[in-house]
Amino acid sequence: MPSISEALSNHNLPTIRRYQRSVKKPDLRHIPGNTGFPILGNAHNLLFDFERYIEKNYQKHGNVFKFKSIATLGTEGVWLLGPEANRLVLQNEGRKFSNFLGWDIAFKGLFDNALLEQDFNHHKANRKILQTAFKKEAIQSHIEIMSPVLKQGINKWPTNKTYKSFTPLKELLLETGSKVFFGLESKKESAKLNKAFISIIYGIADPFKEKGPFFFPYAKGVQGRKIISDYIFANIHKRREKPGNDIFSQLCQMTDEHGTSLSDSDIRDQMLFVLFAAHDTTTSTLCSLLHAIANNQSWQSTLREEMNQFNGELPNYDDLAAMEKTSWTIKEALRMYPPLGVMPRYTIEEVEFGGYTIPANSQVMISALFSHYSKDYWSHPNYFDPLRFSPQRAEDKKDFFQYIPFGGGAHKCLGLHFAEVQGKIFLFHLLKNYRVESLSKDGQYRFRWVPLTFPSDGLPLKFKRL
Ligand code: HEM
Repeated sequence: MPSISEALSNHNLPTIRRYQRSVKKPDLRHIPGNTGFPILGNAHNLLFDFERYIEKNYQKHGNVFKFKSIATLGTEGVWLLGPEANRLVLQNEGRKFSNFLGWDIAFKGLFDNALLEQDFNHHKANRKILQTAFKKEAIQSHIEIMSPVLKQGINKWPTNKTYKSFTPLKELLLETGSKVFFGLESKKESAKLNKAFISIIYGIADPFKEKGPFFFPYAKGVQGRKIISDYIFANIHKRREKPGNDIFSQLCQMTDEHGTSLSDSDIRDQMLFVLFAAHDTTTSTLCSLLHAIANNQSWQSTLREEMNQFNGELPNYDDLAAMEKTSWTIKEALRMYPPLGVMPRYTIEEVEFGGYTIPANSQVMISALFSHYSKDYWSHPNYFDPLRFSPQRAEDKKDFFQYIPFGGGAHKCLGLHFAEVQGKIFLFHLLKNYRVESLSKDGQYRFRWVPLTFPSDGLPLKFKRL
């Protein structure tokens, strides 16, 4: 039988699943930490009290402590905090951490062959192929598709009254996504795929997965996956024959260095995942950006001035690249509110860190949140201050692993330029035409960190036409 490392490297799913069934829980008695309630573990802390939970445990135990979560169905795991931990896990020298086994708690059966779920050689080969969809030329064509959709969508939003803007924003990004990712024009077809896609997202958050009954979110997620899969399989041939500028068409055209195309099921697997990877993360980013500019009117005016330097109706790639204050603002929103507050991994070998031995087969978590608020790296980390990213201050440059909204190492986000470009186009169309205001008295962002960083109050804002 191949070793687990080999099985992961070849993405040998039956062997990996056999390994998961046979493996014993790790003994973590020597790791400090309070694992909360039976079964539920620290779920409550993670969902409702994440910042305080991390800070309190760090003060008490240092940067290694254990947890238990319903997401891991009562199995204990270990938090590793700080830039050194980020480096150890993300650089993954010696291939001691597995992505597949780490992310499987969320993705099982829904994204089994997603790029983020792949390890080592299999991942390396597929990432090389997929990178083409995120190169400059590809992004240029994405800009042309998404800019008019975002512009028209924002123009339809109600003005001069405060309303919860989270839902319209999410809908706008779904509409943008169906054009950029699938090249869909039919509203009926987009609505069907978007509905299926949302059920997959709920399925990811269902901790019971295949063990739950048919009416639980996971079972609906599996149905949603089938609907999108059927659409993809039915259209691959057409997109190979007559490609558009959308990401689906690009995946259908991609080949490796030997000229071999992605198989139909690879196209399906990567399409499904890229949709997921892009949607909630960018929704989260635009929510925190909106919150930040609504509560910082003078910085909002600064950004508007930057936007007004570009006269065109639809900014191009170079215009967007030149919006440097907007870049710092997006970076600051991602520092304060990284969409992915937690990144899971799984040890396939024993690992030494912070004076502890973490045994093989341990679920491990790192968090951007911790190093993004560390006073060792950031001045007044609780304040929104985009200038900290200016070349004069460059607060983000002290340690390569202090700032990880997009992860790092072999699995660093492939869509980071796409996300930045989308954020800039959104702000361009918004700020040139509207002022965003918040009624909040304390200026605090009300949100939850888990599963992704989303507003918990629907994000009440007012848009005033200029
Ligand atoms: C601001 C928005 C985004 C954030 C904060 C974000 C964050 C991340 C993070 C943290 C990872 C690595 C997770 C880990 O190592 O466990 C990741 C991976 C990935 N992201 Fe993003 N992402 C964003 C937008 C996007 C977009 C727009 C796309 C596609 C259009 C995308 C595609 C991917 C892919 C394909 C991977 C897997 C890379 C690999 O495993 O090699 N992301 N993202």
